[in-house]
Amino acid sequence: MDFDVITIFPDFFAGPFAHGIVSQAQKRGLINVRIHDLREFTTDRHKTVDDRPFGGGAGMVLKPEPLFRAIRAIQGRNEKSSRKVILFTPQGRRFDQSMAFEFSKLEQAILICGRYEGVDERVTEHLVDAELSIGDYVLSGGELPACVFIDAVTRLLPGVLNNSSSTVNESFSRLETSQMPDANYVLDCPHYTRPESFEGMRVPEVLLCGDHGRVERWRRKKALEKTLKNRPDLLEYAALSDEDKQLLE
Ligand code: ADE
Repeated sequence: MDFDVITIFPDFFAGPFAHGIVSQAQKRGLINVRIHDLREFTTDRHKTVDDRPFGGGAGMVLKPEPLFRAIRAIQGRNEKSSRKVILFTPQGRRFDQSMAFEFSKLEQAILICGRYEGVDERVTEHLVDAELSIGDYVLSGGELPACVFIDAVTRLLPGVLNNSSSTVNESFSRLETSQMPDANYVLDCPHYTRPESFEGMRVPEVLLCGDHGRVERWRRKKALEKTLKNRPDLLEYAALSDEDKQLLE
């Protein structure tokens, strides 16, 4: 999958993509991440990318011309049958795991990092396929959201994670309806590793007993417990068995 990121801070991305799964996926040719400096698509001496809002008010707005030029140039470089232009903004739809899964089917995602007060609405209306927010808080720009998006989508691409089952069980994970195990709208259960005892804190006995059925029941109970404590809103959508409901009560 190709990710084309349009930003006024191209250096921002040197760190996040140099590590871990995204870096590995690039080295293995499973993804291409290309960073485009919006200023390169300006035509004036000062490389102006923003201007004051019509109608007055605080802040600056990203101008339409450099963004139109950048997106058209990127789209003109190749013929991708499935691609989308995505704008990161606090006004967008909230990005979640099922959206990450849908976007992971694309061949190309062109990501616009918003800045300042916003982006000229003509860009949103005529070029943008999806406006995304990564949460109900305001960041100073779309660069961090773009990193979040690329990470979340990359790890869902075939061949990126060696152990494909590790994306199935984790919190929020949801496969396509046909492959989707029900009851997966709950958070992941707690995990433990060696040592068995650390400063008097012991790993729960059940995890050492070797009885797979008991371990699975315990994990389900703890997952429900954590969901009830931290994200009770998710339980509304969870497919819960009678046993789950009893456990919750
Ligand atoms: N830009 C500023 N805040 C944002 C957010 N929460 N999500 C996406 N883009 C943003």
